[in-house]
Amino acid sequence: MSSLLCNKGSGKIILFGEHFVVYGMPAIVSAVEHAIEATVHPNNSYKLIDNTKKLSNTTPITWAESKQAITAMLTHLNINNPLHITIKSNLALPSGGLGISAASLVAIARAVNNCFFLGLTNEQINEAAYVGEKEHHGTPSGIDNTAATYGGMFVFERGKRKTIGLRNNIDVVLIDSGIRVNTKEVVADVKKLEAALPSSQYKKIFSQAHDALHKYDLKALGELMNENHTLLQQITASSNIIDNIVSIARDAGAWGAKLTGAGRGGLAIALTPGKALQTQVAQTLKNHGLATCATSLGTSVMGR
Ligand code: PMV
Repeated sequence: MSSLLCNKGSGKIILFGEHFVVYGMPAIVSAVEHAIEATVHPNNSYKLIDNTKKLSNTTPITWAESKQAITAMLTHLNINNPLHITIKSNLALPSGGLGISAASLVAIARAVNNCFFLGLTNEQINEAAYVGEKEHHGTPSGIDNTAATYGGMFVFERGKRKTIGLRNNIDVVLIDSGIRVNTKEVVADVKKLEAALPSSQYKKIFSQAHDALHKYDLKALGELMNENHTLLQQITASSNIIDNIVSIARDAGAWGAKLTGAGRGGLAIALTPGKALQTQVAQTLKNHGLATCATSLGTSVMGR
């Protein structure tokens, strides 16, 4: 089905390059199976109904916290009609790191597009969601809205998307820290370190990771994920809780593990090729009381 006919936005994980991407460096991102679906109904007031399922006990998204982003996007689309907006998810959502705000904006833009017969293209949907994302955290790289709009796995650099063709899917475990991320705050803290960012080390990791994906060399990929996590620790994007999750995953046999997304809370990702290893790592993390989601990268619900 064409993604323009549905009201969905895809969740994503950043495999390499969160934060560095804000400063124009390339990142590698993949859509995940998690998606948001939105419906909109014209009304005489605004309302947001969050019917998404949650992986841990994260509080629902409220109109108060999302109205700036949504109304900025609606104004951009010339929709001045108050709306009742409902969002739901196909899978339980973690506390952050999947780009759910962008996925919701894309889903809402698509719902508005269908409701008001706007005839928007994917590029226009992506642009509208970016307008909303700017309200969330000022200087978004655009990676979340791009993944939410197009899906698939791709390199993202300075607003441009270049698809990565994978030989096979990649099994991973996503681990929810249960701590809601304040993306704006982490991005602002990292900005204070801008002059001291380990940019050349990151660029080297990126180009080796890109190569490893092309060769489907998952051993190398895992080691590079570990190295990327070390850089994220250096720029204060990690936390004790995330570092602990990453260590448990590695000790349980994951080929690599890192935080994904803005960090400090939200999600970590562990590379676990093969269903047996994926189950083993997920079970170990569950035994530590952590909520997990076994999924695979490279399978796109929205991709085209
Ligand atoms: O936490 P998420 O999934 O919204 O990811 C944020 C990614 C950052 O690189 C930290 C910010 C950005 O705009 O790219």
